[in-house]
Amino acid sequence: MSTTALTGIGLLVTHDPELGELPDAALVIDDDRIVWVGPAAEVPDADESSDLDGRCVIPGFVDSHTHLVFAGDRAAEFEARMSGQPYTAGGIRSTVAATRAATDEDLTSHAAGLIAEMLASGTTTTEIKTGYGLSTVDEERSAHVASRLSGDVTFLGAHVVPPEYADRTDDYVALVAGPMLEACAPYCRWIDVFCDRDAFDVDQARTILTAGAARGLGLRVHANQLANGPAVQLAVELAAASADHCTHLSDADIDALAGSPTVATLLPGAEFSTRSPYPDARRLLDAGATVALATDCNPGSSYTSNMAFCIALAVREMGMTPAEALWAATTGGARALRRDDVGVIMVGARADLVALQAPSPVHLAYRPGVPLIAATWKGGQPITAIGG
Ligand code: NIG
Ligand code: FE
Repeated sequence: MSTTALTGIGLLVTHDPELGELPDAALVIDDDRIVWVGPAAEVPDADESSDLDGRCVIPGFVDSHTHLVFAGDRAAEFEARMSGQPYTAGGIRSTVAATRAATDEDLTSHAAGLIAEMLASGTTTTEIKTGYGLSTVDEERSAHVASRLSGDVTFLGAHVVPPEYADRTDDYVALVAGPMLEACAPYCRWIDVFCDRDAFDVDQARTILTAGAARGLGLRVHANQLANGPAVQLAVELAAASADHCTHLSDADIDALAGSPTVATLLPGAEFSTRSPYPDARRLLDAGATVALATDCNPGSSYTSNMAFCIALAVREMGMTPAEALWAATTGGARALRRDDVGVIMVGARADLVALQAPSPVHLAYRPGVPLIAATWKGGQPITAIGG
């Protein structure tokens, strides 16, 4: 196996509490892992070497919440929303119709295209949810497609109730918690429920999440995106890895998150794209909650794949410092996926790295919309050539 040294790193942001931030740094990659990190002057010999010419290096972004398996788009719905129409969960059903009509090949190539877009913008780990199939066969297809692109696949059969089960929600909950879960679980690490106004209530969510846990899946919850409700408390009670959205939070919700291992995953692309008030990241952080940032990439509420954009929104609109937002988009995402091999630069971690066309990560929010991702390495493999 050959080793590669990355030298000339102007600033290395590790998120390893012992290493912190290192000026004038270098690191060495062996296969898919980091095997040495330290001052540039002390870098050991390696088979190959690449000089980053003073660029800042950060961990690759960890996008812990996406919905990449779908067909079609909802640009017309977005356009209508920007003219005053409200966002409702009902729009999901139009993507369900398009997804059911698409072939496996179409779904795979479309999702792979989004993954490529993400890699080029610095995202090296991507969770992918099902949730636009909503029949046993179409959810299993979606889970299978997702499993070819990510090790963190989430079964979201409980996204909304599909039209053929209108007025038979209990029957749909039984299907999701029974045969649909059985069909999808082999492809999945996680189960999620959209527990909110116009979606699933807390009892239905508990039934589905408990069935998923019994089948060996970890828990995540779409919680309190559209309205205040019991979903955050449910996530904490069931020790879910993450409560996602957290747009509407009571004091009790914040206390519950702060006193628990459940990560609050904030998705500011959704508030941007639905023209909604942003979640109060500052209150969560000040209370001691662990906060992650993710894109929520989906065709309805947040059709962005760009973590740097979410960092800029979190800093400008949600009261996060640039350092807190970068941590949330890397290490925070890893915590939300209960992973310690990504989101951090240290010996033994995966060599998932981003070199910025900037001297510091503050520029991600300071220069919003500017393509600052000079190069990405995923598992030690360079994805984007510098200048390319
Ligand atoms: O996370 N909230 C539920 N699901 C998605 C929206 C999906 C859609 O509108 O298609 C979300 O925002
Ligand atoms: Fe979502």
